[in-house]
Amino acid sequence: MSDSEDPEASATIEARLREQEYFRPPTKFVGQANATDPAIHDELDEFPDGFERYAELLDWDESWDQTFDGSNPPFFEWFVGGKLNASYNCVDRHLEERKNQTALLWEGTDGEQENITYQDLYRRVNEMAAALRAQGVEEDDVVTVHLPMVPALPITMLACARIGAPHSVVFAGFSAQALAERVDSAQSDYIVTIDGYYRRGDFLEHIEKTDDALKQTDRDPTVLQWNRHDEAKADVDDDYVEVDSLLEEHALETVEPVSRDAEDPLFLMYTSGTTGKPKGCQHRTGGYLAYAAATSKNVLDIKPEDTYWCAADIGWITGHSYIVYGPLALGTTSVMYEDTPDHPHKGRIWEIAEKYDVDIFHTSPTAVRMFMKWGEEYPESYDFDFRHMTTVGEPIQPEAWLWYYKHIGDEDAVIVDTWWQTETGGHLITNLPALDDMKPGSAGKPAPGIKPALVDDQGEKLPEASGQAGNLIIERPWPSMLQTVYGNDERFISTYWEDFSDTDSDDWTDWNYKAGDGAVQAQDGYWRILGRLDDVMNVAGHRLGTMELESAVSEVEAVAEAAVAPRKDAEKGEVPDVYVILREGVERSDAVKADIVGAVEEEIGKFARPANVIFVDELPKTRSGKIMRRLLEEISNGEELGDTTTLRDPSVPEQIREQIHGD
Ligand code: PRX
Repeated sequence: MSDSEDPEASATIEARLREQEYFRPPTKFVGQANATDPAIHDELDEFPDGFERYAELLDWDESWDQTFDGSNPPFFEWFVGGKLNASYNCVDRHLEERKNQTALLWEGTDGEQENITYQDLYRRVNEMAAALRAQGVEEDDVVTVHLPMVPALPITMLACARIGAPHSVVFAGFSAQALAERVDSAQSDYIVTIDGYYRRGDFLEHIEKTDDALKQTDRDPTVLQWNRHDEAKADVDDDYVEVDSLLEEHALETVEPVSRDAEDPLFLMYTSGTTGKPKGCQHRTGGYLAYAAATSKNVLDIKPEDTYWCAADIGWITGHSYIVYGPLALGTTSVMYEDTPDHPHKGRIWEIAEKYDVDIFHTSPTAVRMFMKWGEEYPESYDFDFRHMTTVGEPIQPEAWLWYYKHIGDEDAVIVDTWWQTETGGHLITNLPALDDMKPGSAGKPAPGIKPALVDDQGEKLPEASGQAGNLIIERPWPSMLQTVYGNDERFISTYWEDFSDTDSDDWTDWNYKAGDGAVQAQDGYWRILGRLDDVMNVAGHRLGTMELESAVSEVEAVAEAAVAPRKDAEKGEVPDVYVILREGVERSDAVKADIVGAVEEEIGKFARPANVIFVDELPKTRSGKIMRRLLEEISNGEELGDTTTLRDPSVPEQIREQIHGD
């Protein structure tokens, strides 16, 4: 029985949390940490020059003339005039000192293993870069990469970076339609994919998603297809270009890294917003890489000799910044794992941690809750010893934190909870592990140089450390902030800046970045993130727009209208409930429910599957016809209903509640 199920053990955890609000980092950690001098905060407060320390972690072809240009807000520029190449910084520059050190340590589904040294990575990235070029990829062409957790993914990303082609990685779990939408939005003429990969030991024919996406896109992209094994295991279209044969043709070729302007885009990463269409967050080369490297060093405490494992997927921003770019820029060994944590058994993660003697471990609160549910007997059966642990993506409940601390960290590792977003490129609110005490349930202090603040809905600033909840804003620019929404500067301004900035002003200090999250700053200065304030859900640490879900559901013939609300879930944090009005004459049936679930899987992906489909007669709407999702959320969560006076028919929520809960 795990702590979570054992009433006595949970009582002990709760008692301990009541007694102990802060946990000191272990002395042996502090003694060896990268960031041990509190002066780092003052140095980075020298805005903008403090951030030069971050840029100095990289090798530049040409140094910058100006650290920060705020003359055209909110289009801020960093390390202006500087030139560099991200693949050079993550690969070539390490060869002299550690060409034989493992850069990527890949563990396949059933214990298959690949150790890719920095020399191997250099070779493979160069050959892939030559292959991409030979296929016509030019500087600034966007390459869409739809690859799972196999070495081909970071190799392709770094090859793109080498030739100055921004990559747009689409998480492998996204559907064909989601892939097609991103190809169109990024005006991309290349898709890099693979025949298949393994999920719970079964071979998934991933290539089918590209086959279907090609039928849906407006473009005619060239498809480059890797093979998971020596030969393709799936049915592959003759028109696709086999990467393996291309690589043979370009064996031993080298490609001079293209010297990119610091402000040239390194990649796009699509993320959900409050409209039906995902946004392509565009990240710059210099500022992004400098910030990812510096936070990997100071927050994750990565050293070249470490074995570091961020158990996220590279298809999300966490994997970009903290599996690929940050760790490799520092020349460390980064672990990648192909399959799920429960295959072939629930001790898989700890087995890998023991096998590679992992020093630093990075995961999500959803995973921690799952490990907690499975029970501590799994980690206890393996011999591993983490020095440092991280969480990201959602708030972590103090109980889950303490379980992680005790059963995974053996009360002997530091934990940092890192708050950030696809848009921010790197951690913004997080403790520096040797400098601040840990506080379960709190993301901690702002990262050096970062200025968060809270405002009310009218934009009035709340007093510092007041314990009051407000809208989280960031008052000062930082190097890894998104440059814009790809191809849509207006959306960039309206989403992130308009609400809490003086948009008429040319003075950057009048501009504030809106995070879209609610937060509280406690009296001790620690920040706690409350979650999204907009129509974005957080399902198992994955961000999903309610509008995206709704537009998928509305595709089903039988559906007249739909609204999605987040339901709290003990494991995944939140799950989507779909409220549906059917068209006249359509019977409520399990078949219709299945169609609705199927539509979401098809348009977005299986990971977005609704938890419940609820048929209703009406949706709660204001007099102007706007659906009040907040009320549906309250219904889903069995909470007291808030203000219903603005509704056209104030009895609707009560009717729905009665229908669901039967009271
Ligand atoms: O709501 C916040 C939540 O995840 C959102 C960002 O999601 P995404 O862009 O997918 O990036 C996730 C990984 C960086 C935020 O707006 N979030 C992220 N980290 C935390 C968090 N909520 C609470 N605590 C965190 N540490």
